[in-house]
Amino acid sequence: MGTQGLGITFLTLPLVVRAAAGGQWCYDSQDPKCGPSHWKELKATCGGDKQSPVNIDRRRLQRDAGLGDILFEGYDQAPPGKWRLANDGHTVMLSLASELASEHITISGGGLPGRYRALQLHFHWGSPAGNGSEHTLDGHQLPMELHIVHINVKYRTLAEAKGHPNGLAVLGFFFQVSETPNTNYNTIVAGLRNISHAGYSVDLASTFRLSTLLPHTGRLAGYYRYQGSLTTPDCSEVVVWTVFEEPVEIGREQLRAFVSTLHFPATGSTLLKMTNNFRPPQPLHNRKIFASRAATASGGSPHGGHHQLLSPLLLLALLGPFSPNP
Ligand SMILES: *[C@@H]1O[C@H](CO)[C@@H](O)[C@H](O)[C@H]1NC(C)=O
Ligand SMILES: *[C@@H]1O[C@H](CO)[C@@H](O)[C@H](O)[C@H]1NC(C)=O
Ligand SMILES: [Zn+2]
Repeated sequence: MGTQGLGITFLTLPLVVRAAAGGQWCYDSQDPKCGPSHWKELKATCGGDKQSPVNIDRRRLQRDAGLGDILFEGYDQAPPGKWRLANDGHTVMLSLASELASEHITISGGGLPGRYRALQLHFHWGSPAGNGSEHTLDGHQLPMELHIVHINVKYRTLAEAKGHPNGLAVLGFFFQVSETPNTNYNTIVAGLRNISHAGYSVDLASTFRLSTLLPHTGRLAGYYRYQGSLTTPDCSEVVVWTVFEEPVEIGREQLRAFVSTLHFPATGSTLLKMTNNFRPPQPLHNRKIFASRAATASGGSPHGGHHQLLSPLLLLALLGPFSPNP
């Protein structure tokens, strides 16, 4: 029994050691010597011209009336099987892709070039002193950002998908802090305590409907679309990005749990809190960011911004999708 216990301990060790060793990427909050500005030295793609995240400047969006509602399938059912929550040394990741659980969670439509299956979701956050979203909105960072990573159903593995410009689709959601907790996040927030150290993971007691983590269904028609990359090395430029306008609400204490419970891989004896695990915005170069039919191109949203005169055509497009929330 003693030996078995030791075996388990050692099993988790190599992960931790590898992540903390040299030649690895990190965030500045971990060690500025391997932070985002150095990633291109490890992987040239990270210095490419289609990198993510980006600043979403709402004065410069291009309206695309073809960007209608995204079809979410399987988002409204708790799938069979188990979901594993893990501290991978850079973020908290919920794996959605166990053979049983994943097949039926997909997105399509909304101008996506195909159908995409959900693989995992994870978060980027700040510190007690600052916000930590990756995408910024009119130059402002929001408190936290959720990414749900999907793979084009045409491809069987991540490696295969990375060989194609439309291989992955990631949905990005901003968070907004509220005084009351968002109870839909209780399972994840409670799990954080079990994965305080890098390499730890925990099987959640049950799966749940992914839709409960998102803003209200009636608010998902407003989004921004652009072509970009993974926001961590290898920074593959294979991601169709969708960043939603409507933020998810999260309680102040719940956000604090992310900021204060988790730790980066230990270097030596220092235990470093996992904070500011975001990559700063990358140059847009000659890319465009498109606004969906129902997105607020400029101003009028909870985050403020500048006003723009709307053409009658645009107004029609804006007014079109209004319908009572189910
Ligand atoms: C952080 O986000 C909040 C919105 O929840 C915003 O009011 C605040 O200005 C942001 N702080 C900074 C420094 O951008
Ligand atoms: C998580 O940790 C708590 C103690 O902090 C423990 O009671 C609980 O059983 C753990 N949950 C799982 C799923 O391991
Ligand atoms: Zn991410």
